[in-house]
Amino acid sequence: MAAERSDKWQGGLLGWIDARFPLSSMWNDHLAKYYAPKNFNFWYFFGSLALLVLVIQILTGIFLAMNYKPDAAKAFASVEYIMRDVDWGWLIRYMHSTGASAFFIVVYLHMFRGLMYGSFRKPRELIWIFGMFIYLALMAEAFFGYLLPWGQMSYWGAQVITSLFGAIPVVGDDLSLWIRGDYVISDATLNRFFAFHIIAVPLVLLVLVVVHLLALHEVGSNNPDGIEIKKNKDENGIPKDGIPFHPYYTVKDIVGVGVFLMFFSAVIFFVPDGGGYFLEKPNFEPANPLKTPEHIAPVWYFTPFYAMLRAVPSKFGGVLIMFGAIVILFFLPWLDRSPVKSIRYKGPLSKIALTLFVLSFGMLAYLGMNPPSPVRTLLAQIGTVIYFLFFLAMPIYSKMDSTKPVPERVTK
Ligand code: HEM
Repeated sequence: MAAERSDKWQGGLLGWIDARFPLSSMWNDHLAKYYAPKNFNFWYFFGSLALLVLVIQILTGIFLAMNYKPDAAKAFASVEYIMRDVDWGWLIRYMHSTGASAFFIVVYLHMFRGLMYGSFRKPRELIWIFGMFIYLALMAEAFFGYLLPWGQMSYWGAQVITSLFGAIPVVGDDLSLWIRGDYVISDATLNRFFAFHIIAVPLVLLVLVVVHLLALHEVGSNNPDGIEIKKNKDENGIPKDGIPFHPYYTVKDIVGVGVFLMFFSAVIFFVPDGGGYFLEKPNFEPANPLKTPEHIAPVWYFTPFYAMLRAVPSKFGGVLIMFGAIVILFFLPWLDRSPVKSIRYKGPLSKIALTLFVLSFGMLAYLGMNPPSPVRTLLAQIGTVIYFLFFLAMPIYSKMDSTKPVPERVTK
């Protein structure tokens, strides 16, 4: 591989480095000679945007940690201090809090792209599975982070979620005690959540992102047509429908980054609490263990699962359904039996199923944000059934469905 580098650089510093470290070959393997399908569309922006948000969260997180105090008596005030007294502290904090929601928006769109184009199907099962572990780590990261400002919702949200483990038979109570390190959320909980939030989970996330991308580069990207471009190569062994990732997609991704940063800045500068969705109103009050907020709801990205939890009358049943809703996603590569990958060539059954799935997920998100009522509970039950049917009935409808012929070469 080292022999492939350009003659111009044969000697010099690069030559010196290449004789000791595979710099040029890594550049070529993963960028300049990594061939990606030429028909990537809008939906292919979100992988690189997820990487960008990851970097933003890590960098802003480092600066927040310089002034934040993980102490139940000081945490809330230290966040206020960051907001008012630390130079640019308000910007760093709003970048981080908006970044959390942006991360989920980007990742949900990224996952939806996978659903649409069958990117989880053979040979990309592991990309999907690593992605699902990323999603789990991301949820853990957001959950631990939300306790840190020690506001009312931080406190009571964590109280509700940790006590869910109490619903597990036999070991439940001991388990929630073990997770909290106390009978209620306390200073001990805050300290351990801080440790998980700033080092343990980010390390896991970083490793998972690396293996996610290694798996991707092993098999190559899917595309909106769901065609394997490696099956159609020219005399030099280069996929006919492929273009080098660099410079073509590095430049394309910069456009996505620019547009994303416009939206991101607009939120930070004009609606930094995201209208109460990104930073919930009760969280501007310090945690008070003696006063339960009137209505406890998690942040928007958790609410579809929260609605499923509440839709089931038994607490343990609700916990099972909630975790089941996430676990089932891992099995997706083996549930889809359609002969074609992309929704473009699937028939009406798959299209209706995907539409109903998205609508039910959106409805559940809405229901989870609002206090329950008999009608809302019924709607949440319907939404939960549709959510699970999308997966459980997939082996049947994906097989029965009609398909359109898939072209030999990618379209546009
Ligand atoms: C920190 C979060 C994540 C990062 C940084 C990330 C990064 C990336 C990048 C850079 C790509 C290639 C570009 C693209 O196809 O858009 C990609 C592809 C992919 N990702 Fe992720 N990802 C993340 C989370 C996830 C999650 C949660 C899932 C699903 C559970 C997932 C599933 C996939 C799949 C299936 C592909 C291949 C898509 C295709 O070839 O059509 N990723 N990811």
